[in-house]
Amino acid sequence: NSIKAFAPATVANVACGFDIFGFAIEAPGDVVEIKKRDEPGVVITEITGDEGRLPRNAEKNAVTVVMLHLLKHLGIKDFGAEVVLHKNMPLGSGMGSSAASAVAGVVAMNELLGNPLTRQELLPFAMEGEKIASGSAHADNVGPSLLGGFVVIRSYNPLDIFTIPIPDDLYCTLVHPDIEINTKDARFILRNEVSLKNTIAQMGNVAGLVAGLMKADYDLIGRSMVDVIIEPVRSILIPEFKEVKQAAIANGALGCSISGSGPSMFALSKGKANAESAGVAMQQKFADAGIESSMHVSAI
Ligand code: HSE
Repeated sequence: NSIKAFAPATVANVACGFDIFGFAIEAPGDVVEIKKRDEPGVVITEITGDEGRLPRNAEKNAVTVVMLHLLKHLGIKDFGAEVVLHKNMPLGSGMGSSAASAVAGVVAMNELLGNPLTRQELLPFAMEGEKIASGSAHADNVGPSLLGGFVVIRSYNPLDIFTIPIPDDLYCTLVHPDIEINTKDARFILRNEVSLKNTIAQMGNVAGLVAGLMKADYDLIGRSMVDVIIEPVRSILIPEFKEVKQAAIANGALGCSISGSGPSMFALSKGKANAESAGVAMQQKFADAGIESSMHVSAI
């Protein structure tokens, strides 16, 4: 009998919180099916939705790398499993695509083994999948995909990660323009040095966003969705970035920025109606420039 696991798309960074903030949306998400087989070895029998682009070798694909790490950690040898991955989001989209596969993979394997580890304990394994896919073991996609909600990573070493309460009426609009950005490249172009002035501005916004979310202060959330460090560098990779952002805010959103490493852009809004009108306006700006896009509106 086979086990199925779903892991949702995520928005990482959330404007000011590079590598430390992320939240899960309801859909889309990847699905992994796994079943035991008699011969030893974890094998990928099918991947749908990737146009044949992801590696089929279990040691190279995030969905199975996480399983191999988990089996090794538990000291289980010669275990046999067949894995099917249904990719329900584009690669290189900034929607946490590789993270969703890694999380669905590790959750499915853990369940097949009778759930020896808790969700929290699965996190380091999911991060190994992210490392293989994007070259860095950041947790701001795998964390929320695994734990749900809005996640803060206070520290990577040691790992200190937790969720914070957010307002009930907070909606996310995610607009994916039909272009691709590789996370490795989008990390490579970042500068390693940050000025004191920008550090102060970013810390103020990080504090403001956490306080705004926890106090359900929508104006404060909007004022804090400002990124003076990463967005100015990465936004040059996204055509119409400024226009799309302005359109979101002019049409009901509290704030708008790059989702993860892009090219998807996300907006946060109070209420579903605002999230939808912001999204329509964002898509229109891309369309005006001849760029097709898809939109997802979701409660957080
Ligand atoms: N925090 C990561 C980055 C997320 O921005 O590179 C990648 O999706």
